[in-house]
Amino acid sequence: MRIVVLVSGTGSNLQAVIDAVVSGGLPVEIVAVGADRAGTFGVERSAAAGLETFVVDFKKYASRADWDDALLERVAGYKPDYVVSSGFMRIVAASFIDAFDGRYINTHPALLPSFPGAHGVRDALNYGVKVTGCTVHFADAGVDTGPIIDQTAVRVLAQDTQESLHERIKVAERELLIKVLGDLARL
Ligand code: GRF
Repeated sequence: MRIVVLVSGTGSNLQAVIDAVVSGGLPVEIVAVGADRAGTFGVERSAAAGLETFVVDFKKYASRADWDDALLERVAGYKPDYVVSSGFMRIVAASFIDAFDGRYINTHPALLPSFPGAHGVRDALNYGVKVTGCTVHFADAGVDTGPIIDQTAVRVLAQDTQESLHERIKVAERELLIKVLGDLARL
């Protein structure tokens, strides 16, 4: 099963997928890793792992539509079975979702539909929930919306900061993403 992974940041969840593929535990081919900005550690660590990487730099396009078109053309060129957003901080256009027939998977560090958006961990912590977690879902053109594939609950500790809680959620997120990709690969 061919996947393209999109990142915007450190790519620690991506690294867990790379490690699972390299160890033979995940029958998936990461055909490329891409980012919406230059200099992400996610792309850097992917290149270090010998993977094909690309950047469709949001800042270099005259309009949002031009960036959308460039991203779609670049990703489609790899002919992926699935596109996986792992810390990718852009909402893709409906044309992107349609191009992959809904096979665009996103991970989110909260139990959707609770706490969508770029600050799901902070919002859950500030709300005072006792249990939060992570979600893997088929993304549509909305913000963290689309059919949920699976979720893992993570208890919030009294001493948690946003950082400590997010790091603990990411551990669950990596395991969940690898499980979901493995299940899809074995269909
Ligand atoms: C993950 O928790 C992801 O769900 C969220 O941002 C985090 C990315 O972390 N959108 P990393 O870049 O994989 O370390």
